[in-house]
Amino acid sequence: MSSALTAAYLSDRLLVLKPSATGAMSQAARELTAQGRSIISLSEGELDFDTPVHIQHAAIRAIVQGETRYTDVGGTPRLKAAIVDKFRRDNGLSYESSEVIASTGAKQILFNAFLATLNEGDEAIVVAPYWVSYTEMIRLAGGIPVKLMPHAGQGFKLQPQDLARAITPKTRWLVLNSPCNPSGALYSADELRALADVLRDHPRVLVMSDDIYEEIVFDGTFCSFAQASPGMSSRTLTINGVSKAYAMTGWRLGYAGGPRWLIKALEMLQSQSTSNPSSISQAAALAALEGPRAFLDEWRARLRERRALALRILASAAPLLTLGEPPAAFYLYADCSAAIGKRTPEGVLIETDADLARYLLHDAGVAVVPGTAFGMAPYLRLAYAVSDSRLQEACERIVAACLRLA
Ligand SMILES: Cc1ncc(COP(=O)(O)O)c(C=O)c1O
Repeated sequence: MSSALTAAYLSDRLLVLKPSATGAMSQAARELTAQGRSIISLSEGELDFDTPVHIQHAAIRAIVQGETRYTDVGGTPRLKAAIVDKFRRDNGLSYESSEVIASTGAKQILFNAFLATLNEGDEAIVVAPYWVSYTEMIRLAGGIPVKLMPHAGQGFKLQPQDLARAITPKTRWLVLNSPCNPSGALYSADELRALADVLRDHPRVLVMSDDIYEEIVFDGTFCSFAQASPGMSSRTLTINGVSKAYAMTGWRLGYAGGPRWLIKALEMLQSQSTSNPSSISQAAALAALEGPRAFLDEWRARLRERRALALRILASAAPLLTLGEPPAAFYLYADCSAAIGKRTPEGVLIETDADLARYLLHDAGVAVVPGTAFGMAPYLRLAYAVSDSRLQEACERIVAACLRLA
């Protein structure tokens, strides 16, 4: 069937969506690998560690003991109690069980929160560089993503005066992601309070605090938005999950705390779409939230070493790649503006960061994601949560490929 004809079957709603650039890069890398090429992917947003054994066993126990039926839509009472405890213990946030929800990944919570609150033409402020899915989810819900661009010199962090200027009568959300994917930016409590001060005069604006990288912090201290500004907690949706903290991306389990009216709306959407998140994954998440956490220190130490390794090798690609040392998350966000205008050994002109990413994939066999996907170009995002040996080889290949540019 022709693509024009198949497009005629698709809804207008779908046409606003762009395919995920991170997914496209991973797919291209898989295809080249299948053709026998040696490809190292630095494009995946996940840890390469195994889900800890005590979490695996909790899931197996759940299967054997018959925890295999529908549960309450927003999660089992036990998991909700563990989520309430987690927010109190780690973030000083007090929610009741009717103010928390468990879902199929943090992604489902973000999606449903936009769907539940945005009307056609409403605006949601996102801070570039941002996680690729925010803008698409906002658009799909009928909203308009309003992109703010703090520069690298500001640590990629939103400044209060820029927030104040961006708010209009149509603004419904400020989306904050600290630590940030892809920049690794980490907001201090004072910086969050300064943003909250601006929002105090705008009672219709809600805050989405996407805390999914909370555990991956090397320098500085994590603070959740509502923790920094308790007066804003009735307008804040605090989102987290087990994907990044416990190497559980495939289990699809995210959770959130927020005002009861919003949590109820999320539950309603969930009840008419996916129902409860997997009962097995809920049992695993319970073990993750209630279980030992000492391994997290070891994971952080290993990631910190990898960050140092990658930065040490990639320094040789300067000035074509310019890198800061991100305080958190497991990504490097490399400014590649000095590579724009160069030519590959085959004479192909590098005009965009996407061209550079394509060159690195085909010439060096390394998959990275162009910054265009994250709303700030020309940059490359390199995820360094891969084994030391693969990371070393990938970075050396990137340097060699950069030096071949003329
Ligand atoms: C900033 C950010 N938020 C949310 C998510 C989604 O996490 P989950 O696996 O819980 O759906 C991701 C995953 O990459 C992310 O990077």
